[in-house]
Amino acid sequence: MNITIKLDGVDISAKRGRLLSDVLSLHGAETEMPCGRHGKCGKCRVIAHGMLSEPTANERMLLGEEAIGNGVRLACLTRAEGDCTVITQKRSESRVLIDGEMPELEIKPTFSGYGVAIDIGTTTLAARLFDEGGRRIADAVASNPQGVFGADVISRMESALKGNAEGISKVTVEACDSLIGMLSESAGISSKEIGGGVITGNTVMLHLLTRTDVEPLTHAPFEARRLFGEVLTASELGLCSLGAEVEIYLPSCIAAFIGADTTSAMLGSSLAQHERSEILCDIGTNGEMVFSDKGELFACSTAAGPAFEGAGIRMGMVGRVGAIDHVSIVDGRLCAHVIGEVKPTGICGSGVVDAVACLLELGIIDETGYLEGGEAEISDGVVLTQEDIRKVQLAKSAIHAGIRSLLISAKTDISKVDTLLIAGGFGSYLDTDNAIRIGLLPSELRGRIRSVGNAALTGASMLLLNGELRETAKNTVLKVQVRELSGDQVFADEYIERMMFE
Ligand code: FES
Repeated sequence: MNITIKLDGVDISAKRGRLLSDVLSLHGAETEMPCGRHGKCGKCRVIAHGMLSEPTANERMLLGEEAIGNGVRLACLTRAEGDCTVITQKRSESRVLIDGEMPELEIKPTFSGYGVAIDIGTTTLAARLFDEGGRRIADAVASNPQGVFGADVISRMESALKGNAEGISKVTVEACDSLIGMLSESAGISSKEIGGGVITGNTVMLHLLTRTDVEPLTHAPFEARRLFGEVLTASELGLCSLGAEVEIYLPSCIAAFIGADTTSAMLGSSLAQHERSEILCDIGTNGEMVFSDKGELFACSTAAGPAFEGAGIRMGMVGRVGAIDHVSIVDGRLCAHVIGEVKPTGICGSGVVDAVACLLELGIIDETGYLEGGEAEISDGVVLTQEDIRKVQLAKSAIHAGIRSLLISAKTDISKVDTLLIAGGFGSYLDTDNAIRIGLLPSELRGRIRSVGNAALTGASMLLLNGELRETAKNTVLKVQVRELSGDQVFADEYIERMMFE
């Protein structure tokens, strides 16, 4: 039986007994759930009143009686037993990026009924439901629950090798099942009407999903046990929201650290199809980049560290409510914008880039990266430290040097590059002038930098809607010339040179 939940002032209908965390995800109200909805982190707080399940022992322990008395609850532990009111952050205040423009496409679906495309990102999962006619029916996003096993791919692989491989796979499959459940409910269909799917992600994500041994990925010469480009059934993957025989396509990875998400993003951004010279760059913990020189393809991956993902720096956070996302100089002083217009609790990647650019402009950081006073307040107690600046220097020089080395190895001058395409959420919110100011991106590319949104999900959707593209993508991957940067003298020289601010 359905009940009514007033969610941030809007009446919605839901099944009695549903977890509030499911309701929030289904309706796009982004709430942090870093422990993967296991009732352990205490972060998924909402204010809820009405007919709700009794507070659990974990809620009492994590929240305390006083907060519970004031209506604070943990969304992942609270069920809506009848009509109720829930207050949380609204979708507009979060910045999980799902959009990406789909290139023109002939619809030749690989499924009957409905099809689902999923991108397993290191921090976020994004999914999209289509019908046979290629119409986009619903979108859903969720945090990657692997976060409890480690913040980045390296620590998650270490955790897998210590005996958690089964557990990591299980939470990943469950997260995919939960996204499929949300999409189906949103579309008013049964998930059993979904006749096919595509799941993309980086090489490590696909290894962890499929319980493939990650050991060869953890040490030189960094080899993948499996490069995918294959179909598995839902039952082989362990997905129980779908019929057992439903086929799921996992696109080809290019190399150990250039994954199927890059393959999908190449497709989603039409990279290899242009008679142009373009670079596609996904700036994450690893900067993955592909250069298409009028169709001739070169790729590399560079370890940037998580500074631009809002991790690894003292007050870093992802781009959610409370994060400083933009900083400018007004009347000679720093002026910060905070997502959700609330008191800031941290700073996300785009904010870090702006803040460093502004501190350079004000002379508070010098060209060596020395930060006057060792600490700079950006706004309301949110600071960047000297150590943070050093991490930003390492990250920005890794990305910048990666781009230049890739072009040098392709024997192309940077002046010949038509466009730099930035994939993923970070690129969409990045102030490119400030990115150039701090030396993250080459100044020669000013005016030629464009964001392509979540191109990996766009590409996965295309592989779902036109089966012939799978062969095309596979052939494209075979043509990519992978450049190994570790041990490359050109890269090493560029890396040192780009460390300074100019
Ligand atoms: S998501 Fe961690 S307690 Fe709910």
